[in-house]
Amino acid sequence: MTITVVGAGYVGLTTAALFANAGHTVNLIESHFADRLETIKSGRSWFYEAGLDPLVARAINAGLLLPTDDYACLKSTDVVFSCMGTPDNPDGSSNLTFVFNVVDEVIKTLPDDAIFIQKSTVPVGTGEEIKRAFAAANRSLAYVSNPEFLREGTAIADTLWFDRVVVGSDDVQAAETVLDLYRTLESHREDIARLADVTPYETQASLKGEYIRTGQNSAELIKVTANAFLALKISFANSIAKLADATGADIKEVMNAVGADPRIGRAFLNAGRGYGGGCFPKDVSGLIASGQSRGVEMTIMHEAATLNESMPGYIVEKLKEALGGELEGKKVAVLGLAFKAGTSDARRSTAVSIANLLTKFGAKTHAYDPEANHDAERNGLSPDVSLHESTEKAVDSADAVCIATDWEEFLAYDLGILKAHMKGNLFVDCMNVFDPERVSETGFRYIGVGRSIS
Ligand code: UGA
Repeated sequence: MTITVVGAGYVGLTTAALFANAGHTVNLIESHFADRLETIKSGRSWFYEAGLDPLVARAINAGLLLPTDDYACLKSTDVVFSCMGTPDNPDGSSNLTFVFNVVDEVIKTLPDDAIFIQKSTVPVGTGEEIKRAFAAANRSLAYVSNPEFLREGTAIADTLWFDRVVVGSDDVQAAETVLDLYRTLESHREDIARLADVTPYETQASLKGEYIRTGQNSAELIKVTANAFLALKISFANSIAKLADATGADIKEVMNAVGADPRIGRAFLNAGRGYGGGCFPKDVSGLIASGQSRGVEMTIMHEAATLNESMPGYIVEKLKEALGGELEGKKVAVLGLAFKAGTSDARRSTAVSIANLLTKFGAKTHAYDPEANHDAERNGLSPDVSLHESTEKAVDSADAVCIATDWEEFLAYDLGILKAHMKGNLFVDCMNVFDPERVSETGFRYIGVGRSIS
């Protein structure tokens, strides 16, 4: 089967590399970023994602992954995965310009018996609008919504050991064809995992992945609802963390016990500097906008977003107080800028917000991320933040250190050595990933988010 993936972003490149490694011929259209296209042609990913490079290299060498900036390849395509970005508009709604650019190309070029698969995260009702565009152009293309649930940093494992593949369409035959594609991918799992050197994450190994067929609108709503609910869990944990701070309780003890109830579950109840990235913030605002456009007020999601936005400031206030109420002239090191560990992505990173707030309040801010320095610069990091290429350089003579992203490199760092590089002894654990007692034993003053020692 000849597949075309449009858009070589995080989802598009991962999808293309995986299906090519399952033996399909995959055209990958990237018409906007020439530099990304060149990197992929040379057999590498343009972003950091564990296990992706070997998959891209093998597929390119085998001639199964064909990167191009030309839509002409759609002419001989059986299925198209549209993986375009859907950034948010200033009012929070989703900007579908890129999605509809692809629709225009598909209308012009895709053969009649081909299937158009929407993988971009789109507001509920977008598929109906696209089908109206097909009909207006006298095209009878099959339309399938197939939302993506992979997480950056664990994208390969998430796809190979999936919990669910959701395929929504009014065209049963097209939906079954798409499900079959995923079944082929599953049958190549061991080989792909070996090459990528990935293993199942947490509970994935025991998962029996479900293939779920739904209606088109349901599939669109499933995607944003899943992300919104996870964002809600995080904001809920952060609101309880503030109460834990005010009462001397420990949020980890609280959430470990609360999450032991299988009806609640422990995942995504980790309090800290709040969620960021290319998905949760825009999916929450997108859901609010979808509701508003139909007269449904999503009050609960407004609260989740507001709480999330408060977290970087909340942490910086605690730090400032611990340094005597004044940040002017203080040197603070921020370790980690990516929105989470395992990725070079710093979009909407709350670690970047922390660095910027420190700078705004007069601190001399020094930062280092193993992978995301460059992306942080492109995503709003203040030019007044000094970027470094190592932990040692960033923390040199610092009054305080903030661990803002939970990279293994920081978790494994010898805390005695870290402290020896610094002038002061304030340790801010922005993601609650350290043991407060162990940190305190090294002579640091520990601050977490809702942790009892401070
Ligand atoms: C998220 C979803 O988890 C994926 O299922 C989905 O496919 C993806 O969005 C998407 O829509 O494309 P991702 O944004 O890659 O994946 O990252 P997550 O691991 O979900 O983390 C998102 C943010 O929440 C990060 O900033 C992370 O640090 C934060 N987080 C996560 C917390 O603050 N607390 C937690 O307990 C968990």
